[in-house]
Amino acid sequence: MHTRVDITVNGSPSEQASPCEQAEVSRRRFLTRISVAAAGAIAILAGVPVVGFVLAPLVRPAKPRWRPVGRVDSFEIGQTVKVDFSDPSPLPWSGITAKTAAWLRRVGEGEFIAFSINCRHLGCPVRWVDGAKLFMCPCHGGVYYEDGSVAAGPPPESLARYAVRVNDGQVEIQTSAIPLTTFNS
Ligand code: FES
Repeated sequence: MHTRVDITVNGSPSEQASPCEQAEVSRRRFLTRISVAAAGAIAILAGVPVVGFVLAPLVRPAKPRWRPVGRVDSFEIGQTVKVDFSDPSPLPWSGITAKTAAWLRRVGEGEFIAFSINCRHLGCPVRWVDGAKLFMCPCHGGVYYEDGSVAAGPPPESLARYAVRVNDGQVEIQTSAIPLTTFNS
């Protein structure tokens, strides 16, 4: 047989409860606290990478770096080809997103031009259509001429260019943070 006792909620007696009921209330409170603590821990674990990603460029601005993209003799004069490299500011958790690319054109014996692959509208990767001698953006129909200037569509300015140099037979691109313009309309 259970004896009824007073229990208090927020410091004042509110109801009569047996020891069994008190134990049940304590167990529920304990489980509630464990659940809240676990949810908090999960939220912190999930939130740290997101906050780090947002703040990283402010805390650790990316310095441009020279990146080798291939030997000079592996590029034909007059050809525009895609070259891959790592973003200069990869974060530990960037994974495959640290990989980026540029369009590289050999214009002379030791002369190259490198265009950003990112459209100046909203950053979609543009592709080079050799037959038309145009860069085309698949997202909203942006079109750029061979020299990177805007031919049609919403891009507000020409494709960004990277500095290029030849160093010990290697073509190197000076990469910086992916160039994107702000959205104006
Ligand atoms: S992102 Fe290229 S046209 Fe919009």
